[in-house]
Amino acid sequence: MCQTALHPFLEALPKCEHHMHIEGSLEPELLFELAAKNGIALPAPSAGEGGDPAYASIDALRKRYEAFTGLDDFLGYYYIAMSALVDAADFERLGLAYFRKAAAQNVRHAEVFFDPQAHSVRGVKLSTVVEGIQAARERAERELGITSVLIMCVLRHLPPAEGVALFEEARDAGYFSGMLGGIGLDSSEKPFPPALWTELYGAAKAAGVRRTAHAGEEGPAQYIVDSLDMLDAQRIDHGLRSVLAGDERVTEALLERLVEQKIMLTLCPLSNVRLRCLESVRDFPLRKLLDRGVRFSINSDDPAYFGGYILENYCALQDAFGLSVREWESIAKGAVMGSWCSDRRKAEIFMEIEAVAGEWSVGLGDQ
Ligand code: HPA
Ligand code: ZN
Repeated sequence: MCQTALHPFLEALPKCEHHMHIEGSLEPELLFELAAKNGIALPAPSAGEGGDPAYASIDALRKRYEAFTGLDDFLGYYYIAMSALVDAADFERLGLAYFRKAAAQNVRHAEVFFDPQAHSVRGVKLSTVVEGIQAARERAERELGITSVLIMCVLRHLPPAEGVALFEEARDAGYFSGMLGGIGLDSSEKPFPPALWTELYGAAKAAGVRRTAHAGEEGPAQYIVDSLDMLDAQRIDHGLRSVLAGDERVTEALLERLVEQKIMLTLCPLSNVRLRCLESVRDFPLRKLLDRGVRFSINSDDPAYFGGYILENYCALQDAFGLSVREWESIAKGAVMGSWCSDRRKAEIFMEIEAVAGEWSVGLGDQ
């Protein structure tokens, strides 16, 4: 909760989320429960070979999540935790737990990533994962009024040919005609440049499938440029390096292009701090994004690992930057416009935002 008068407004504000890895919402409580149910051995809580004291208890694991040294350190824990997910009911439970939290924070539309290759290496089929998450999405829409899009991510630390094979499997199963709404690219960023993924993205484009890609999280701004040029990515996940001071020759032209082509950055401030891409939320380039007119949304990335869901990210920014109701209204509307939902759904959420912002700008004197 932020310490400002705007907190109840931020809670009430209708939100769209576009950068959330469903496996990254696996809270330690559910992780230990599912591991016990499925007979999955987590690392022994001893300091010796193969052991890790972080697995001694839920509290110890949470504490360890506060001390990531970078993306790869986090990913080690992320992949171990998801080994507890085995059957479709596990994925449905995971999805529902996320959608319920999101609904409580007034998320109205969520675009959710999943990592099928991290499951297929353990013998869990693509169909098991997709069907489990689909069941959760249907319940979320029916019971919570949240619409969603499911985005299949390819792991960039695995051979590109395996990513292409996964895409073809999903395409040939007909998943892109309803259950899946796009592809993405995640996992370790360096040293896996966008150029490795031209075949995958070319196949997706040829099949009329939407494309996003993680870029410029730990990697250079040039990876963002290359994701646009070589992969024809339609939005960029993180893209933080396009707005941070660095190589201005790249970032100035890139920023102009992002603005002109209305390419959305899906940004994740608490993730950036936990993974040490930023020293503190105060270093998040929020003012520059607003001043330059970049389209962006604020997201939770891996909420079970990074200290909060979408509202905690909004609150952290409010504590650091003290925005007005009208500035938040414009951020929330920008997120709607960058969403991969129908125009009709966008119009509905737009009206909900206007109603909430109208009400609160009167109550708070547009502070
Ligand atoms: N970056 C890259 N890959 C990921 C992340 C992230 O923040 N979260 C889950 N997979
Ligand atoms: Zn991510």
